Amino acid sequence: MLITFEGIDGCGKSTISKEVFQELKKRGFSVVLSREPGVTAVGQKIREMVLLSNDSMDSMTEVFLFAANRSQHVAEVIAPSISEGKIVILDRYVDSSIVYQGYARQVGMEDVYAINRYAIKGYLPDITVIIDTPPEIAMKRMKDKNPDRIEKEGLSFQKKLQKGFQLLVEFFPKRNFLFVDGSLSVSEIKNEVMDYIIKNAGL
Ligand code: ADP
Ligand code: TYD
Repeated sequence: MLITFEGIDGCGKSTISKEVFQELKKRGFSVVLSREPGVTAVGQKIREMVLLSNDSMDSMTEVFLFAANRSQHVAEVIAPSISEGKIVILDRYVDSSIVYQGYARQVGMEDVYAINRYAIKGYLPDITVIIDTPPEIAMKRMKDKNPDRIEKEGLSFQKKLQKGFQLLVEFFPKRNFLFVDGSLSVSEIKNEVMDYIIKNAGL
């Protein structure tokens, strides 16, 4: 079982994915929480290259770096955990690339997905929760955080991303998406997500 959390910068995914992780653990499930980019040793280096460097970067280079990080993440964390029967919860995964690089950076959603097929090795999410927070609210939530290279793009970029996440439903008509209103309280969002997971994951 692979459950991913997605959304624009500052939407609240890290907060909610941690809450859901704790709740599933409390209920006795064997769960792993991970995030992109980073986590593996190689992934940490890629994270520094892609988010912290001030060098200008071609959008396709960005696609390959996120995909390289993902390939390592699948090999080291995701595939082994799933084969041990664990529930894997991810704070960002392949949909972030399709939306950020494919849609917002205009590389093309199809092309980005085609490249990422090599990285994900068949591990598409069973459930994807999109925390749909109005960009103005998400930006306010991030005001104390040091913005990385992508977050520096500003409000119009975040609005494009919001639209991109909405387009995923048409792009993947057979996948399971839950859109939650990110302006609700943490406990309201957590309850809605837990209800959905319990109903749709056969837990
Ligand atoms: P993301 O991982 O999407 O960037 P975070 O989970 O780190 O977002 O949340 C960004 C900030 O907003 C944090 O300070 C967090 O405590 C706060 N936050 C998250 N969810 C909510 C919510 N539903 N209501 C109010 N504040 C929230
Ligand atoms: P990070 O600080 O890890 O997390 P967040 O903003 O989600 O709390 O930032 C990750 C940044 O990288 C974020 O701006 C989204 C971006 N990103 C992509 O552009 N493509 C990707 O494939 C992934 C995984 C992230």
